[in-house]
Amino acid sequence: MDGELARAPERPVVAQSGTPEALARRVFENLRLVVHAPEETLRLVVLCLLAEGHLIIEDFPGVGKTTLAKALARSVSCSFSRLQFTPDLLPSDVTGVSVYDQRTNEFEFRPGPVFANLLLVDEINRASPKTQAALLECMQEHQVTADGVSYRLERPFMVLATQNPIEYEGTYALPEAELDRFSMRVSIGYPPLAEEARMLTEQTGADPLEALRPVASGEDVLGAIEAARHVYVEDSLSRYVVALLRHTRTESRLYLGASPRAGIALLRVAKARALSEGRDYVVPDDVKEIAPAVLAHRLILAPEARSAGLDAAAVVGDVVERTPVPV
Ligand SMILES: Nc1ncnc2c1ncn2[C@@H]1O[C@H](COP(=O)(O)OP(=O)(O)OP(=O)(O)O)[C@@H](O)[C@H]1O
Ligand SMILES: [Mg+2]
Repeated sequence: MDGELARAPERPVVAQSGTPEALARRVFENLRLVVHAPEETLRLVVLCLLAEGHLIIEDFPGVGKTTLAKALARSVSCSFSRLQFTPDLLPSDVTGVSVYDQRTNEFEFRPGPVFANLLLVDEINRASPKTQAALLECMQEHQVTADGVSYRLERPFMVLATQNPIEYEGTYALPEAELDRFSMRVSIGYPPLAEEARMLTEQTGADPLEALRPVASGEDVLGAIEAARHVYVEDSLSRYVVALLRHTRTESRLYLGASPRAGIALLRVAKARALSEGRDYVVPDDVKEIAPAVLAHRLILAPEARSAGLDAAAVVGDVVERTPVPV
C-alpha cells in the first residue's frame, strides 16, 4: 500500500490547558520554533485549527509545506496519520477496507489512515479524482461508509493538504467545488535572507522537528473549537459577511463568486480569530483580516483579469475595502 499509516509515537500529554487564547498562543509559538514563515501565515494556521477547518498549503517545492503540517501535528497530542498521494492510490487506501475473517465467516472493517485527528495529505493533486473524492467526502461528512455501514471519524478532525501551484505532468488539479471544502489556503513563500541563512544552519544540524513537543491535548483543542462556535455574532455582522459574499458574485473581475459554504467558513474562522484575541464577540476586523485566505482559493478569476495578471486574493482585498463596515 502506498498510504503510510504513521501513528505518532507516544508523546507525553502536556498538562497545560488554560484559556483558548493561551492555547492559540502556545501553538503559534511552537510552530514558530521550526517553521520560518510570515507570522500572519502561522496565525492563520492556528485559526484554522480552532475553527476545525481543513487547510490547504500551496507553494513551490521545498519551502516548508510538509514541515508546517508536521509541526502543527506535533504541537497537538492527538492521533496523526500521513498519506502521500500518488496516481495509483485507491480510495480504500484512504478510507479503509473490509476484510473477510475466515474464523468468524464475517467481513471486518479495517480503518484506513483517514481515521485520525490530524491527517496530512501530501501532494493532494497527485491522486486520481476518484481518490480525491473519497477524501473530500470524509472531510464534508466526517464519516466513512463501507458496505452500507457508516463509521464516524473522531473529532477534532482536520485535513492538512499540501500541493504545488505549478501543474506538473501527472497531476489532477482539484476542481473548485472540491477546493470549496477547504476552509483556508495559505502559502509560505521564500524566507528573508537572514532567516534563510539561519534555517540552513538549523536544518543541517539536528532535526528541529524532532525536538518539538506537544503544547495542547486533543481535548484542549476540542474545548477551544467548541468555545469558538459559541462566539457571539451580531446581526449586522452577519449581514456584512453576506454583503461581502454578494460583492464577489457581482464583481466583474470574477467568473465565480463565493458560495454560502464560503460564508460559513468565513464566519467560523472569524469567530476563532475573536477567541484567539480573548474576545467573545466578532468584530469586522476579524472578518477583514482573514477574508483573502478563506475566500481566494474558491473563486475563479474572469479571463481578462487573469490575463491582466491579477490574483484572486487581491480581488478579495479590493472587495473588502469597498464593502461598508457596519457601525
Ligand atoms: N520555511 C521553512 N521553515 C523551516 N524549514 C524549512 C522551510 N523551508 C524549507 N525548510 C526545510 O527544507 C526541507 C524541505 O522542506 P519541506 O519538505 O517542508 O518542503 P515542501 O514544501 O513540503 O516541499 P515539496 O513540495 O517538495 O514536498 C526540510 O528539511 C525543511 O526543514
Ligand atoms: Mg512536501
